[in-house]
Amino acid sequence: MRVDYSPDSLPAGAFYRLLTAVVVPRPIAWVSTLAPDGGPANLAPHSFFTVACTDPPIVQFTSVGRKDSLRNAEATGEFVVNFAPEPLFAQVNATATDFPRDRGEFDAVGIEREPSLRVRPPRVAASPVALECTLHSTLRLGDSTVVFGRVVHAVVSEDVLVDGRPDIGRLRPLSRLGGNEWGTVGDVHELARVPYRDRGHD
Ligand SMILES: Cc1cc2nc3c(=O)[nH]c(=O)nc-3n(C[C@H](O)[C@H](O)[C@H](O)COP(=O)(O)O)c2cc1C
Repeated sequence: MRVDYSPDSLPAGAFYRLLTAVVVPRPIAWVSTLAPDGGPANLAPHSFFTVACTDPPIVQFTSVGRKDSLRNAEATGEFVVNFAPEPLFAQVNATATDFPRDRGEFDAVGIEREPSLRVRPPRVAASPVALECTLHSTLRLGDSTVVFGRVVHAVVSEDVLVDGRPDIGRLRPLSRLGGNEWGTVGDVHELARVPYRDRGHD
């Protein structure tokens, strides 16, 4: 037996909860931006996040509704995607609080920042990875806006590198699951892709 769900017959909120419960786990972009008027730096987690293009390198996050991160990215043309690691669990969640626009999450939550190299929004100093982005474009879809950012610089802490490559055991990414659930990395398996020529012939 399977249970059927139609977006046409369910309230949008219910279908959204179903979608976010089954599109899992989602990586978390911890997005830092600056207000165009020189207001405090803004920081917020976005789990509708992925790589959009490899060459040029472009990442994307989605703002459901018009939030400060989106407004700032549009107004300044810049944002930083900070990696959200397990040890910063409480801080990541605290930056999802709907603080008023004039209370930046860096200050409100007490998160140490460091300057970025290529863009003006700061990085999260304790985060092991930052992707500095300039706004490529936005795409309005219904109640949401997809924000595409060209990655103009990436920085990775030496602590998470093994043989020069980011190591999953050291990165310890947080992920978003359904509802208020969060995930951490479980078992990691390595398996190379099998080229067609190496498959047995039927
Ligand atoms: C783990 C996590 C993931 C989230 N993902 C998103 C997301 O993908 N898109 C979104 O609009 N809001 C998302 N939110 C909610 C925003 O972080 C929250 O609305 C925040 O206050 C927005 O801040 P801003 O107004 O400073 O941009 C998420 C919250 C959490 C805790």
